[in-house]
Amino acid sequence: MEFSNAYEDARRAEAYAKLEFPGTYYLAFRDLPEIISQHVSGKKAMDFGCGAGRSTRFLTELGCDSVGVDISAEMLLKARQFDPNGDYRLLGESGFDQFRDQVFDLILSAFAFDNIPTREKKVGIMKEIRRMLKPECRFVNLVCSPEIYYHEWASFSTKDFPENQNAKCGDIVKIINTATDDRRPVDDILWPDEDYRTVYQDAGLAPLVMLKPLARKDEPYHWVNETRIAPWVIYVLRRATL
Ligand SMILES: C[S@@+](CC[C@H](N)C(=O)[O-])C[C@H]1O[C@@H](n2cnc3c(N)ncnc32)[C@H](O)[C@@H]1O
Repeated sequence: MEFSNAYEDARRAEAYAKLEFPGTYYLAFRDLPEIISQHVSGKKAMDFGCGAGRSTRFLTELGCDSVGVDISAEMLLKARQFDPNGDYRLLGESGFDQFRDQVFDLILSAFAFDNIPTREKKVGIMKEIRRMLKPECRFVNLVCSPEIYYHEWASFSTKDFPENQNAKCGDIVKIINTATDDRRPVDDILWPDEDYRTVYQDAGLAPLVMLKPLARKDEPYHWVNETRIAPWVIYVLRRATL
């Protein structure tokens, strides 16, 4: 089946732009401030796949000097409306050419790699991420765990897509974001941990830490499976020596 980026769509951008950090998303971002303060010392940050700018504003609020980049003009329009003083760039045909080598202390990607279809594309983008990172600086890659596509969650539903259970690496999986008013399913690409590791190796990146955050019962959300199954995976990576 042909894959297309669900976020190059004005209605989706409108709905997504209203999202902050509800329910299952809270869990994705909850531990990032501590992870970043432990692993990153400088302030110059890129938010790869910034969408409507939620994750870029998150970095800026942590004190980073942030630039958000995305391939969706629709999402960037929303990002700029929310944050007129922010720096948001469209990644066009020339990709990352506008960014010099070794300029960023931190590159964050929050959920963008779930929407990047092939191994070749993933490796190509991660090689660019490696090129733009200063030596000893970090790439933080926040992605969906395969399990997110098999269960129900505070902010997502997959019960209408039992075929997700049979998906292999690189296959399309479907998920509905119940935290927005756009209930059309989103197509993502399933990419298990063992396959991320080979992509990292080919791109010259080395994982330092992998975290699978679980929710706590005392948190103010109606958790469904989040206290026992991790919906997200967070990798902290460094440039490997080539
Ligand atoms: C699920 S959204 C997440 C947006 C944002 N990081 C957040 O947390 O709210 C994923 C974003 O990745 C972007 N994306 C997908 N493929 C991309 C690519 N090849 N280059 C840059 N951005 C991409 C999409 O356009 C979309 O805006």
